[in-house]
Amino acid sequence: MRFRKDISAVAQQQLRRQLLDARASLSSAARDEAALQVGNHLLQLPELQQPCQIGSYFSVKAELPTHAINEQLMAHNHQLSLPILHPFRAGHLLFMQLNQTTKWTHNRFGIPEPELDVRHVTPLGHITILLVPLVGFDAHGNRMGMGGGFYDRTLSAWRQGRVNLMPIGLALDCQYVDELPVQPWDVPLQMVITPSKVWDFRA
Ligand SMILES: Nc1ncnc2c1ncn2[C@@H]1O[C@H](COP(=O)(O)OP(=O)(O)OP(=O)(O)O)[C@@H](O)[C@H]1O
Ligand SMILES: [Mg+2]
Repeated sequence: MRFRKDISAVAQQQLRRQLLDARASLSSAARDEAALQVGNHLLQLPELQQPCQIGSYFSVKAELPTHAINEQLMAHNHQLSLPILHPFRAGHLLFMQLNQTTKWTHNRFGIPEPELDVRHVTPLGHITILLVPLVGFDAHGNRMGMGGGFYDRTLSAWRQGRVNLMPIGLALDCQYVDELPVQPWDVPLQMVITPSKVWDFRA
């Protein structure tokens, strides 16, 4: 698929819908199989050969399921933190370290998240690998999310050099498009992992 860079907001919304539909047309067994392959690619990255502080996420709806990936990462001694909606910085995320006693709640989007506990907040600067959900990605590492700007705000700290992490998108193969429209606040990813390919966008 090829799309013009300057498409309108309406066309962008149509593209988002199209990509969401493509994702939803896969069976849940196919998505589970895809997650297995993505998890294996991820674990083989040189960056993950020592224990890392990984920012992951809880997948919802037809997203590539992250549950088994998260379990696999913890089994390989990586520390996992999951995002919650920031309690007072609107539009921002806060990462909470998972542990044996983590209590769960749902945020206002209905997405499961760890309960806020200041003792277990992981500063973004401690995260070395940030796994990023996406609706679509292109051949340059640009990503389209759900339209909230949450990950763009998180990644802007990295783009400004305030934190040092590696943003890796996790995706199904059907989430690829040749070229996505890009806005000034959109932060491209360094890598996207799909079942069939590890896309490395680093120079
Ligand atoms: N760094 C930022 N600072 C302030 N506002 C931002 C920033 N990044 C994105 N936004 C705002 O967020 C809104 C949504 O951005 P966009 O459409 O790129 O979302 P997205 O990338 O699909 O979502 P997400 O990042 O949550 O996956 C935009 O209106 C934009 O103005
Ligand atoms: Mg964006």
